Amino acid sequence: MKAVKVGLLGLGTVGGGTLAVLRRNADEISRRAGREIRVAAAAVRDLAKPRDTVDGLKLTADAMQIVDDPGIDIVVELIGGDGVAKQAVLRAIDNRKHVVTANKALIALHGNAIFEKAQQRGVMVAFEAAVAGGIPIIKTLREGLAANRIEELAGIINGTCNYILTRMQESGGDFGEALAAAQQLGYAEADPAFDIDGVDAAHKLTILASIAFGIPLQFERVHVQGITEVAAEDIAFADELGYRIKHLGLARRTAAGIELRVHPALIPKRELLANVGGVMNAILARADALGPSLYYGAGAGAEPTASAVVADLVDVVRAVTTDPENRVPHLAFQPGSLAALPLLAIEQIETAYYLRLKVLNRPGVLAAITRIFGDLGISIDTVLQKGRGQPNQEVTVIMLTQVTQERHMNAATAAIAKLDTVTGDIARIRLEKLS
Ligand code: NAP
Ligand code: HSE
Repeated sequence: MKAVKVGLLGLGTVGGGTLAVLRRNADEISRRAGREIRVAAAAVRDLAKPRDTVDGLKLTADAMQIVDDPGIDIVVELIGGDGVAKQAVLRAIDNRKHVVTANKALIALHGNAIFEKAQQRGVMVAFEAAVAGGIPIIKTLREGLAANRIEELAGIINGTCNYILTRMQESGGDFGEALAAAQQLGYAEADPAFDIDGVDAAHKLTILASIAFGIPLQFERVHVQGITEVAAEDIAFADELGYRIKHLGLARRTAAGIELRVHPALIPKRELLANVGGVMNAILARADALGPSLYYGAGAGAEPTASAVVADLVDVVRAVTTDPENRVPHLAFQPGSLAALPLLAIEQIETAYYLRLKVLNRPGVLAAITRIFGDLGISIDTVLQKGRGQPNQEVTVIMLTQVTQERHMNAATAAIAKLDTVTGDIARIRLEKLS
């Protein structure tokens, strides 16, 4: 049977990994796909850049040349962002080519329009590599859990953040050094602010939530917080209290609506997610029939991500001759069946909290703080004073609360900050018990 011709847009970390895996495992891959998958051409930004692995491959600096080439059957977009990548994907669809992409920003921000166009043109847009690197979580949620009503997803879905937090936890390492190492290893986005500010994880959560709950992609409704404000002392205090700090993406059904949030969180050390270290990602899915299930693996890097890209290529090749109406829907639910479920504002979510504050060592200081919590109906779980301090000297106080609504915690911390015995800012991190 004729080989399937693939055009690779981008030959960086993921593009290079994809080419390497396709070449190394060519025989096994074509036995699975039923046809040879051959990379016919690749687009890069800088043709002069030295590259080891491109012998015999036609290179161009014009991605549109590949997209418009009638000899290319599938376009694999591995450029990133929503500039050239978006133009190329939309034009490939217009040209009735199937698309594989690892670009979570593109799917989270423009996926609704992209899938609509793909549906009209009868082509597939596959994006397994966009979420959690090599873990086949899209396929799992879309196909493996198709019988279930999914109640909750909680995941470590940014490898760079997890790598940085793990290094800070294990060696008290410096944030900047850990980030530089993640960049060197090819984990970080072209602009690493997307990782450390939580935006990349929010792109991924947007996609996961849509597939899990059958709702349109709504990136703008996700609460996004990164890891730049996680202090080494919070990691140490959390450890002392039996918790690890992880950067979490949470999508949860509640009676009032859906919570969509990305932020650092304390997790009890005994929980599996607390023990996911380095660049590894993990997603806990809670579903009504299956119950909880956990998916774990490398969340970034050249070949782990290529594993997902190539799996998508095999899926597309297998499905090329099927009737477009009978393919697995892009967002798991039939396009006409996406529901407008209510999404909660962050003030409406319910969680527990870790607080770190500096107070003057005086009688009645803690009583004043606990009175504020009591008046707002917030129960305190743990109070820890660090150091004895002389009278009227500053001491650090750590508090853990029980679950409350975020708006009550906002009111409590605003009132506590006004006490003249409280000095400096109050550090606040959400605390999640997932099991
Ligand atoms: P990367 O290493 O920066 O590679 C980007 C590639 O795109 C480079 O080969 C670059 O060319 C090429 N490129 C940039 N602008 C171009 C243009 N205008 N025309 C043609 N080619 C262009 O990025 P990456 O880490 O592989 O990420 C690619 C995508 O995969 C992104 O969407 C990212 O979010 C996603 N992703 C990455 C990972 C990961 O672990 N890195 C994991 C999952 C998903 P030059 O080589 O000439 O610079
Ligand atoms: N920059 C992303 C991360 C790549 O660190 O998780 C994988 O999506």
